[in-house]
Amino acid sequence: MLPRPVAVTRTGSGTFTLDAATTLGADPACAGVAHWLRTALSGATGLPLPGPAGPGGIALTVDPTMPAEGYHLRVRPDGIAITGGSPAGAFYGAQTLRQLLPPAVYRRAPVTAGPWTVPGVEIADAPRFGWRGCMLDVARHFLPVAGVLRLVDLLAAHKLNVLHLHLTDDQGWRIQIRRYPRLTEVGGWRAESMVGSRQHERFDGRPHGGYYSQDDIREIVAYAAERFVTVVPEIDLPGHTQAAIAAYPELGNDSGEPAAVGTRWGVSGRVLNVSDETVAFFRHVLDEVMELFPSRHIGIGGDECVKDEWRASPLAQQRMRDLGLRGEDELQGWFVRQFQQHLAASGRMLFGWDEILEGSLPPGATVAAWRGPALAVAAARAGHEVVACWDTAAYLDYRQSDGPDEPIPVGTVLTVADVRAFEPVPADLPAELRDRIVGAQCNLWTEHADSPRTVDYLAFPRLSAFAEAVWSAAGSADGFDDRLHAHLGRLDALGVEYRPPGGPLPWQRRPDAAGWPRDRADREAELAALTRNVQQS
Ligand code: ACM
Repeated sequence: MLPRPVAVTRTGSGTFTLDAATTLGADPACAGVAHWLRTALSGATGLPLPGPAGPGGIALTVDPTMPAEGYHLRVRPDGIAITGGSPAGAFYGAQTLRQLLPPAVYRRAPVTAGPWTVPGVEIADAPRFGWRGCMLDVARHFLPVAGVLRLVDLLAAHKLNVLHLHLTDDQGWRIQIRRYPRLTEVGGWRAESMVGSRQHERFDGRPHGGYYSQDDIREIVAYAAERFVTVVPEIDLPGHTQAAIAAYPELGNDSGEPAAVGTRWGVSGRVLNVSDETVAFFRHVLDEVMELFPSRHIGIGGDECVKDEWRASPLAQQRMRDLGLRGEDELQGWFVRQFQQHLAASGRMLFGWDEILEGSLPPGATVAAWRGPALAVAAARAGHEVVACWDTAAYLDYRQSDGPDEPIPVGTVLTVADVRAFEPVPADLPAELRDRIVGAQCNLWTEHADSPRTVDYLAFPRLSAFAEAVWSAAGSADGFDDRLHAHLGRLDALGVEYRPPGGPLPWQRRPDAAGWPRDRADREAELAALTRNVQQS
C-alpha cells in the first residue's frame, strides 16, 4: 500500500471476495463515500454492489471519537468494515480497500472476471499532517477542466487533501471575474511561449491560453469536495501580475510601454501599483474568489515582487512617506496586509509564499515555505502556520535525474527517493513550534508542462512518494521501493504516464528544447545566503 498505513495486521488466510451478491452500504453520514466507492469499484468489476449494507457486505460507518481523517479497516471472510473518524476518514479507508484489490480494479471497464479477492487484514491508519497538498500552476500552461478533475482523482487516490490552484501569473489569468471581464478576455491569452528554459530566448510562435468560467470553478470545487480535497485558490499579488496589467493598464506603474501578457518564463518586472484603486480592484476580485471557493485559506501569492518599478514610482514613494515605511519591502508588507485584513473580515485566512514575511505580517497567516526550511522556522516563529514546500524537496518541475535524456531539465536533481525522504519539520524547529507545521505540498510549475501528458511525467511517480512523506509516520519508508513498484501497476491501470524508473520513454524526451540544470550545492549556497539575510532582518 502507498502511502504506507500506520498499522497493518494480516489476519491469516481468511479472505473476502467481492461478487454479484456483495452489498455496499453506509451510515447516512457516509452516503457520499458509499456512492463514490460503488462507482469506483463497479467500472472495473462490473459488480452492482447494491445498498443497503447487508451481512457479508461492505459497511462504511463513522466513529467521531477517532481522529477525523483516520480510519479502521477490517477485512474478514464475513464482510468488510470501514470506520472513519469522519466521512473523510471513511473515504481514506475506501481508498485503501481499493489498493488491497488487484490493480485492474483501477480500470474503468472490466478486463478480467476477477476474482476480486481482498486479503484478510486489519488496518488502523491516520495521517501525519492535516495539509497534504499539491500546487498546480494553470497560469503558465492552462490545463482544461477535465485534466484538473483527473488530477483531483489522482490526489485523492494518494490521500492528498489540498489542491492549491495557481490561477494567475505574468503569462496568463485563468479565472473569470464578472466585474472585470478583460482579465480573461485579454489576460487569458498570449501570443506565444518560450521553448525550453528562459536562458535560451527561443519562442514557439504559437498562441496559448484558456480560462475557467465561474461554472468551471464551481464544478472543480464540488468534484474535489466529494473527494475530500479542498481547492485553495491563489491570485498572485503584487508581482506576477503582468497579465492583469495587460488587461487593465491602470493597475500598473505606467512605465511607458504598454504591457502584453507575458510570453517569457522567469519573473517579470511589471508589478501592481499601490494606489487605493488598485487595492480596491483586487478586493473586488477576491470577493468573487471567496464566493466561488469555500476554503478557509485564500492565496494571494506575494512571491518574487521585483521592486524596481516602485523605486521609480512617485506614487509608491509618496505612499511610503505617508505611511512612514522604511523601504519597498515594507511597502510590500503594507500591500499584503490590506488583503490579510480583507480576507479576515470574511472569516478567511491569508495564504502566501514566504515572501509575505517581508515587512512584518501580523501573526495568523499560512505561509508556503518554498525557499528552504529556514523560512519555515522564521514563519513559525512569527506566529504563522507553515506549509513546507521548499524547492529542493518538493518542486516537481525540477529534473528527475541527472541523465542527458531528462526532458527540459531545470532546477536541482529531485529523484523519487529524494521526495520520499522529504521531512517537512525542520530539524532546528523548537519543539513548542512543531504544531505550526500544518503539513506540506508538492508544487507543479508548468512552464515546461504544456499538456496533461507532460504534467503526468513531472508528477508521477514523485507525487506518490510525496504522499507517503506527508501521510506516513516519520522515518517509516520500509519496503518503499517494492511498494512503489506495485503502485506503478495501479498508475498503469489509471492511464498515468509516469516517468518510468529507467528514464523517459522516447516520446517523453525533448531534444528540441534545452533546459538549465542547476547544481544542488549552488542552490543550497543561495538559500543559505538568503537565510542569513532573513535572520539578520
Ligand atoms: C515560487 O516558486 N516563486 C513560489
